[in-house]
Amino acid sequence: MFTIFPDEQALAKQLSQELYTSLAQQPKLSLGLATGSTMLPIYQELIQLHRTQPLDLTQLTTFNLDEYLGLSPDHPQSYNYFMHQHLFKYLPLTTEQTHLPQGLCTDVEAQCAAYRAKIAAVGGIDIQLLGIGSNGHIGFNEPLTPFDSITHIAHLTAKTRQDNSRFFTNQAEVPTRAITLGLSEISQAKKVYLVITGQHKATISAKLFASQVTETLPASILKQHSNAHIYLDAAAASQLPEEVQAQLLASKKILC
Ligand code: F6R
Repeated sequence: MFTIFPDEQALAKQLSQELYTSLAQQPKLSLGLATGSTMLPIYQELIQLHRTQPLDLTQLTTFNLDEYLGLSPDHPQSYNYFMHQHLFKYLPLTTEQTHLPQGLCTDVEAQCAAYRAKIAAVGGIDIQLLGIGSNGHIGFNEPLTPFDSITHIAHLTAKTRQDNSRFFTNQAEVPTRAITLGLSEISQAKKVYLVITGQHKATISAKLFASQVTETLPASILKQHSNAHIYLDAAAASQLPEEVQAQLLASKKILC
């Protein structure tokens, strides 16, 4: 289901409120988290909500989608560092509650298996937050990743490394590999929010809207999920068909 919000702030407010309500109703929630620019307003809203209406988060468990291979957790571009800087340090969460793949490890395959097992041990992911790459990736599942993939080592495409080079000094510094949850695990989450914001995501949003379910566009797997919510801001939705935008402007949700 696609929903359009006037801007990313309105989207972040709504989504964080929905997450917060779920947390209040189900304290023992297992929450799948993403990094990236798209998540920043959402995490800021969550932090603000917790400041004004603190919840008991002691039973919450979080699992991040991915991490670059080769970066230590204190590397400023690592996803471990991102999560600490933008969310975890503001919330009363212990290190036992928050899980991320580790970029420096000797046996990556064993780590993938252990990560899968940890998620299985809590009964899978209840709510998964996702952003999308300009090539349609979710997590680091690049185009043509099999839909039945599980946590694995992903080889990043040139496009993804180019997109993500904005966080590094130059593109050569962007790692070539990452650990990512697989598409099978992501799509087994009980509820999924895919968040797409900004004009630079307008082309991929329109492609996703029009697309069949196909491994060439990894995010299209969500179209067969019974509880997936695709939240766009107006800029990201600007290349959707005009009649669709008109309906969305009238605040109607579109099933697609
Ligand atoms: C990050 C992740 C990626 C990003 C995507 C969008 O943990 O899994 O799939 O969500 O690359 O990144 P931004 O939000 O920076 O455009």
